[in-house]
Amino acid sequence: MTERTLVLIKPDGVERGLTGEILRRVEAKGYVITRLTKLDAAPDQLAAHYSEHEGKPFYQPLVDFMLSGPVVAAVVEGDEVIKGFRSLAGQTDPTTAAPGTIRGDLGRDWGVKVQKNLVHGSDSVESAEREISIWFG
Ligand code: RTP
Ligand code: MG
Repeated sequence: MTERTLVLIKPDGVERGLTGEILRRVEAKGYVITRLTKLDAAPDQLAAHYSEHEGKPFYQPLVDFMLSGPVVAAVVEGDEVIKGFRSLAGQTDPTTAAPGTIRGDLGRDWGVKVQKNLVHGSDSVESAEREISIWFG
């Protein structure tokens, strides 16, 4: 079924100059980028986006990380793209994310309180619609 998902290239990906490499992988897979913007995340956007993680030990480090530099936000479309992009991204922890994935090939641990893992991808149709409205209105 045709779906859309919200992809964020986090500040580590933008700062390291990996925006093109990450978007290349999305397009090479066959998905279509229908919206694309670079912006500085606002605190209220992050509070809404990460509300499920409020109270967890990594919450404040995560918000501070996401405020540390610009992000790239994209809407990506295709059949089964929600599951498909999360497969392209790999597991959350970049140390053990499989080689061949974005996090496995391009990410590593940096010895800080939050996993800097390059990308975000929505995890369900409901999350995708909620997150697209947070980042694109
Ligand atoms: P995302 O939401 O960014 O696509 O990543 P995810 O589903 O794989 O991971 P999630 O559990 O939703 O966590 C959101 C983000 O929080 C950071 N995190 N750091 N213990 C830690 O250091 C830790 N745990 C989570 C990561 O940046 C993760 O992507
Ligand atoms: Mg998540």
